[in-house]
Amino acid sequence: MGHGKLKKFAENATFRCLLQPDASQVLDKVPGSKELRLRDHAIKGNWGREMFGNDHPIVLELGCGKGDYTIALALRHPEINYIGVDIKGARLWKGAKYATEQALPNVAFLRTRIEFIDAFFGPGEVAEIWLTFSDPQLRGSENARLSSPLFLERYRRFLKPGGIVHLKTDSRYLYEYTFSVVKVNGLQVLAYGSDIYHEGLQAGNSLPDSSDVMNSSPVISSEAEGGVEKSPALDVAVVFEVQTFYEKMFLEMGLPITYLAFCIDHEGPYAFPGEAFDHDYWLEAEGPRRSFSHQPNKKG
Ligand SMILES: C[S@@+](CC[C@H](N)C(=O)[O-])C[C@H]1O[C@@H](n2cnc3c(N)ncnc32)[C@H](O)[C@@H]1O
Repeated sequence: MGHGKLKKFAENATFRCLLQPDASQVLDKVPGSKELRLRDHAIKGNWGREMFGNDHPIVLELGCGKGDYTIALALRHPEINYIGVDIKGARLWKGAKYATEQALPNVAFLRTRIEFIDAFFGPGEVAEIWLTFSDPQLRGSENARLSSPLFLERYRRFLKPGGIVHLKTDSRYLYEYTFSVVKVNGLQVLAYGSDIYHEGLQAGNSLPDSSDVMNSSPVISSEAEGGVEKSPALDVAVVFEVQTFYEKMFLEMGLPITYLAFCIDHEGPYAFPGEAFDHDYWLEAEGPRRSFSHQPNKKG
């Protein structure tokens, strides 16, 4: 491992805003078997008190990389707490260092595999999740996609009723796949667009008038209905005005950026889209994206 990385890891250990649990803190051996099972971490249900010292809403960015989106959101909304989650310590270092130096009270980072995410958050502890330029996992197991039914099931365990998932991606494949999951499960769509900087956003089925969702005018998500708590506003302006590290790179490459916001509420198990999603068609349509590994900077 390079000297630079070692230095970052050493510094990471000093950042109060960065939680880096060992796998042993969230994984137990199943007695009499070689299998491991997930165990709750002590911070679960306690982020407000232990990390932020308040009970403001909590928003996650999963796969936050260097954390610049998490920080940009936190600067825009000081009344909301933001937690960036990633497995790569050298990337998290950048965001955690900035948040520490600037003494940002509403930013934290968690170093973990997203597969373990429900060990860290209790029921109703999170208001929204951002999936920003997630690795699309074009081949292999569908379960590896961060918007698969398996992951939505994990998120539902800790999202508030009416909690929002935002997907922002350059991958048309991942966008269409996620749309299929949303449709087969009858989830409420708040806003969507397959080329947001050229075509803007369309209102989802929850909004009374599609003119409410315009390129830069904030809209408020629907008020609580049937006991559903009100989530923080769906800040549409942020979708256009705040760009992630990877997003800037993809825009320079001329790739369209897609966005989909939906509510996770759903009774019973989530269904897989099956044939409702045309894997071969959207893989083909991915075009130049297919040859791009999503990991251009292995050192990152
Ligand atoms: C393409 S980068 C996007 C980073 C950032 N969101 C952005 O847009 O600039 C994807 C990030 O997700 C992280 N990641 C991917 N799969 C993960 C997983 N299963 N658990 C934790 N982090 C993961 C990677 O380490 C990487 O930093």
